[in-house]
Order: sequence, then C-alpha cells, then structure tokens
Amino acid sequence: MKRDKEKLKKLYDTIGICCGVLVVLIGILSVVLAPKDPAGMVYAVAGAEHKGKAVAKQVETMSGVTVMHAADWEKDYPEIYASLMKNQENDEIEDYLKSYPQLITLYEPYGFSKAYGSARGHFYDVDDILETGRPHALAQCWTCKTPDFTNLVNETGPEAYQYDFEDVKELVDEGISCYSCHANTPGEITVTHTYVVEALGADWDKVSAADLACGQCHVEYFFYPGTGVTTLPRTDLETMHPDAILDYFNNQLVDENGLGFADYTNPRTGVRQIKVQHPEFETFLGEGTVHGGTYTCADCHMGTVADGKGGTYPNHYLTSPLENQGLIDAECSSCHADLVTQIHELQEKVDTRTTEISDLLVDLTETLAKAVERGEYTDEELDAIRALARDAQFYWDFVFVENSEGAHNSKLTEYCLDQAETLTNEALGMFKSI
Ligand code: HEC
Ligand code: HEC
Ligand code: HEC
Ligand code: HEC
Repeated sequence: MKRDKEKLKKLYDTIGICCGVLVVLIGILSVVLAPKDPAGMVYAVAGAEHKGKAVAKQVETMSGVTVMHAADWEKDYPEIYASLMKNQENDEIEDYLKSYPQLITLYEPYGFSKAYGSARGHFYDVDDILETGRPHALAQCWTCKTPDFTNLVNETGPEAYQYDFEDVKELVDEGISCYSCHANTPGEITVTHTYVVEALGADWDKVSAADLACGQCHVEYFFYPGTGVTTLPRTDLETMHPDAILDYFNNQLVDENGLGFADYTNPRTGVRQIKVQHPEFETFLGEGTVHGGTYTCADCHMGTVADGKGGTYPNHYLTSPLENQGLIDAECSSCHADLVTQIHELQEKVDTRTTEISDLLVDLTETLAKAVERGEYTDEELDAIRALARDAQFYWDFVFVENSEGAHNSKLTEYCLDQAETLTNEALGMFKSI
C-alpha cells in the first residue's frame, strides 16, 4: 500500500516536472512567437503616447460558471476591493425633470417624462432600478445592473431577457461587480455582455480592453422588438456614428408597415421617437475625438494609486478626472494649464446650447400638436414634419443623455447640436410654407 503511494507520488512528481518544463517552454514560445498585438500600436495625439491596448477576452457561455462576488475577492485584492466600495461616496442624484422641465414634454408619455434621476455610483445601481418611478415588465432592464443577470443570460441564452423582472430580482445578490468586467478572473478584462461582440464585429481588436470594459454599458442600446434582447444599433466602429445609428433606426430596423423603430410615440404629435441612452463609448471613441487614441476610459476615470508599500494598484473608485487632483498633476497638467476651468467652460457652453435646443424642440412639439388637433394639414404634410422632429430630437438626445456634457468629444457634440438645431428649424419653417 505504502509502496503504491510512493510510486504514485513519484509519478506525480515526474508529471509535475514535465508540466513545469512544458509551462516554461510554452511561456518562452509564446513570448517569442506572440503576434504583435494588432491594436498595440502607439498612437500619437498631441504628443502623448497610448498606454497599451490589450485586447479584451470574451466570456465563455453555457459553461456552468456561477458568479463570484466582490466579497469573494476581498482577501486577494484588499485595496481594489476597498476602492470599489468607495463608489458609495458618489451618492447624489439630480432630478432631471426639475432641472430640465422640457423633458416632460419631449419624452411624453415615456417613463422618463415621469421620473428621471441622474446617474450616480455603481454601488447604488440596484437600489436605483428598484426605486425609479418607471415600470419594468421584463428582466431585460437588469442587463446593465448586475452580473447575476449577465450570467443568467450567458448560461440560459437570450430567452432570459423575457423573464419577469420581479422573478429575476430574487436572483440578484449585488450590483455591478468584479464579474461585470473580469468574469471570474480579476486582472483580466473579460467582456461578459455578449452583445458587445456583435456590435464590434471585425473591429473587436481595434478597441482597448479598458474601453470595452466600460463600453459594455455606457453605450446606446435598445431592446430588439419581439425578442426583447439587449442589442446595440451598430456592427462595427464606423456604424457607431450618430448618422449611422439614426439610419439604422430609420431605414434598417423597420416594422411590417415600413415604419422605423420607435421607443415611444408622442400621443399629441404622433411623432415616433427614439430614446437615446448614455452613448459615452460612441462619443468618446467617435469621429473628432481628441483623446480616443491616447487614453482609455480607465486612464481618466480610474488611474493608479500608491498602495503605501512601494507598489500601485488600479483605482476602482470611478470618478470624474476633474475631481482627481493626483491624476491631473501626474498626467494632464503638462498640456492643460488649468484642466478644470477649461473643461467647465466647455461644458457650460454645451449645456447652454443643449438647453436652448430643448426649448426649440418644445416649441416644435407644441406647434405640431396644435396643427394635428386643428386638422389644417394633410397627413403627408404632418408626416414630413414628424420625420424631421424625430431626427432632430434624436441628435439632441444623443448629447443630452451623454454624461460628459461635451467633454468626451466636443466636435461630435457640436455636430449633433448643429444637426438638431437645423432640423428643428427646418420643421418649424414648414408650418409657414405649407
Ligand atoms: C454592467 C454595466 C456597467 C459597466 C460595465 C460600467 N458601468 Fe458605469 N454605470 C452603470 C450604471 C447603470 C450607472 C448608473 C448607476 C446609478 O445611477 O444607479 C453607472 C454610473 C457610472 C458613473 C457615475 C456617473 C455619475 O453621473 O455620477 C461613472 C463615473 C461610471 N459609471 C463610469 C464607468 C467606467 C469608467 C466604467 C469602466 C471601467 C464603467 N462605468 C463600467 C453601468 C455600468
Ligand atoms: C466596471 C469595471 C470593473 C469592475 C467592476 C472591476 N474592475 Fe478590476 N479592472 C477594470 C479595468 C478597466 C482594469 C484595468 C485598468 C487599466 O488598464 O488601467 C482593471 C484592473 C484590475 C486588476 C489588474 C491590476 C493590475 O495591476 O494589472 C485587478 C487585479 C482587478 N482589476 C481586480 C478587480 C476586482 C477584485 C474587482 C472586484 C472587487 C474588480 N477588479 C472590479 C475594471 C473593473
Ligand atoms: C480624456 C479623459 C477621459 C476619458 C478617456 C473618458 N472620459 Fe469620461 N469624462 C471625462 C470628463 C472630463 C468628464 C466630465 C466630468 C465632470 O463633469 O466632472 C467625464 C464624464 C464621464 C461620465 C459622467 C460622470 C461624471 O462624474 O460626471 C461618465 C459616466 C463617463 N465619463 C464615462 C466614460 C466612459 C465610459 C469612457 C470610455 C468610453 C470615458 N468616460 C472616457 C473625461 C474622460
Ligand atoms: C500631450 C498633451 C495632452 C495631455 C497630456 C492631455 N491632454 Fe487633454 N487635450 C489636449 C489637447 C491638444 C486638447 C484639444 C483641446 C485643447 O486645445 O486643449 C485636449 C482636450 C481635452 C479635453 C476636451 C476634449 C474635446 O473634445 O474638446 C478633455 C476632456 C481632456 N483633454 C482631458 C484630459 C485629461 C483628463 C488628461 C489627463 C488624464 C489630459 N487631457 C491630458 C492635450 C493633452
């Protein structure tokens, strides 16, 4: 018996040594033979060099995996865990309907016209989805809120989007967490939301992992009619331009009557509207970006922190770079003499113009509602105005719901506002010319 055990031990030792040698060999080979990261080129924008662009991994589906939660990793990564918990500090909600009463008209009768609070830290996302005044019928609304639902989709397939919202609530243990960005392997960026893969197509390896981690949720999305599957209205980087997204909703995703996709229809004007959702990824990496090639979302919103033991760790408290003086001093001030003032001035201009266009769109909505009520125009005439009103509001919303108020890409922001203003004025002009 003992002899057998010794034999077995020897065998294991031999296997162990062989494996060890193999691992070293593979290691050496992979370094020697590794293809140059196709996206690993160094971009030079205004003299700054990009900090590495590792390609993200894609989550394995139907693999029987269960979610490991943040607390499971606390022992291995105490500083990262503590910084993730710090997201509790970002706890303020702005009531958008109070700050921008135009929304009550522009989003009528959609849920956002009844309750619409600003975003706050990831820590609160489950509380916020449960407390919003907007109704949730299906589980699809959990898509960007918890890895427990992400994993359910990955393990059971797209029918999970059709589950009852309340039933899924019972399965939710925590909000956005390690699994959302790393699956069960912290340290590696893994895209766990599979729709992201389809939405990038052949451009997958052109986007850095640290952009994709955030670009799983900070994107424009919709629920596919019929199946309810969370989908992004694009198939590569080129089709994420707002013009292409609008074309997709207007001309490609049409119903049996040839009508473009709509999230809701204003009952007074009959305009079939598209509700845009936080397109940070599309804006930051879109045409006109200054820093899209130099920095990733993580560079500006995470940064690294000294651990007090001579090392550093990636900060997981996601905050505004304008509130991160350490980052500004170390990274930004060499080019931006006063980053905070510069960006606040930019945002103020964008906010003023966005609000002016909201007023113009309210004017258009009310004028059109009156025209419909009075019946002085033909259906064709009204439909032509409706089409302009829909497109105008889409471009305005693309800016309004983007969370950086122009900071991510002031050129694209300006382009969208120009489009919104021109189209609104064109629509208003038609009342006189008809
Ligand atoms: C799984 C989806 C998901 C991922 C991945 C994700 N976010 Fe978020 N993020 C959200 C949601 C949802 C909110 C709003 C939470 C709330 O208000 O309850 C939010 C809020 C935020 C906020 C606070 C916004 C504010 O106005 O205070 C910041 C900053 C942020 N995210 C940055 C990031 C960055 C940077 C990344 C990538 C490292 C990232 N997020 C990845 C879903 C996600
Ligand atoms: C919202 C997305 C997100 C969440 C949630 C998240 N991480 Fe990360 N994590 C990242 C990104 C992005 C990076 C890479 C930062 C960079 O490249 O600058 C990263 C880097 C890391 C690293 C690599 C450190 C290094 O120096 O290479 C570790 C380890 C890690 N995270 C652990 C965790 C753990 C543990 C949790 C949960 C307690 C967690 N992360 C939650 C996005 C996330
Ligand atoms: C070059 C730096 C930079 C990069 C890179 C960057 N952002 Fe931002 N982001 C900003 C600035 C500046 C603001 C405005 C912050 C403020 O108003 O205090 C902002 C605001 C935000 C906000 C609103 C939160 C807040 O605190 O106001 C979110 C959410 C966000 N960014 C997500 C992202 C995502 C997702 C990416 C990657 C696709 C990204 N950002 C890339 C600079 C950056
Ligand atoms: C190598 C120089 C350089 C560095 C370093 C740099 N920037 Fe910039 N940044 C620029 C230039 C150039 C512009 C174009 C606008 C201008 O003239 O300032 C710009 C514009 C911006 C904008 C506005 C983008 C737009 O579309 O208008 C933001 C936000 C920004 N930078 C944030 C940051 C942050 C945050 C850091 C540090 C993490 C940083 N920058 C570091 C050169 C730099």
